[in-house]
Amino acid sequence: MAELLATAALTKRFNGLTAVNEVDFRVSEGETAGVIGPNGSGKTTLFNLLSGFFPPSSGEIRFDAASITRLPPHRRVALGIARTFQLVSVFSTLSVWENAVLAVLRFQPGGIRPGPFFFRSARRAPVLERCAEALARVGLTGKAALPVAGLSYGDKRMLEIGITLALRPRLLLLDEPLAGLSDHEIARVVELIRSLRGQFTVVIIEHKISKILELVERLSVMNEGRLICEGAPGEVLADPRVRACYWGKEAPAC
Ligand SMILES: Nc1ncnc2c1ncn2[C@@H]1O[C@H](COP(=O)(O)OP(=O)(O)O)[C@@H](O)[C@H]1O
Ligand SMILES: [Mg+2]
Repeated sequence: MAELLATAALTKRFNGLTAVNEVDFRVSEGETAGVIGPNGSGKTTLFNLLSGFFPPSSGEIRFDAASITRLPPHRRVALGIARTFQLVSVFSTLSVWENAVLAVLRFQPGGIRPGPFFFRSARRAPVLERCAEALARVGLTGKAALPVAGLSYGDKRMLEIGITLALRPRLLLLDEPLAGLSDHEIARVVELIRSLRGQFTVVIIEHKISKILELVERLSVMNEGRLICEGAPGEVLADPRVRACYWGKEAPAC
């Protein structure tokens, strides 16, 4: 499989704390990869670096063989890197449909233009198609006109993933997509992620691994900012270094 993303000695320091420490992380085109690790191990910071939310203190990020280390977030989205957040991040006062349209327009070349141009471009067929397709994919077609404020947390999460799908990403970064959901909602999101396999390149951060164990082909483990182990999920979970980093905190498979 061709390499889509690669970091080299990627490092982020916050004052005295090294949140991401010399991480070499690779993602191949088409794979579904998981990143696990105890709380505070640097998983979200890694995503923040990949999506351009923070500049790294040192190190490099390459996407599709070109350096993106210094690109701002919107340029990375334009290249095809889309992410979701640990806490759902959608506009509550807008409808489901408006959220999708806004996201697609926001990342079109030239961005959103004010005034009537916005509404004109919002009505363009390709934009509408993309949004309709994405909402159908996450099962929200019937709720398109509803204000997001009235949705369940599970539906908000599905919308957030739907919005990233509407951007037609080449790399989808999901930060704890199952966090805060009921068992029923977890089953829906797991089913959705399963349906993305092979069509999108996906990296899933998960604090606890059991729910995504069958979803990912490869697992990377972070501890105290470092990538300490990588490989097939079964092998990684049996690795003594992985067991040791969870020791006294929680078992990785719970
Ligand atoms: N913006 C920030 N400013 C200062 N410290 C931060 C910031 N973001 C994260 N950290 C710290 O970096 C470490 C890693 O955090 P994080 O990446 O959120 O871990 P995880 O997602 O694995 O739980 C933590 O100690 C956290 O407090
Ligand atoms: Mg996190």
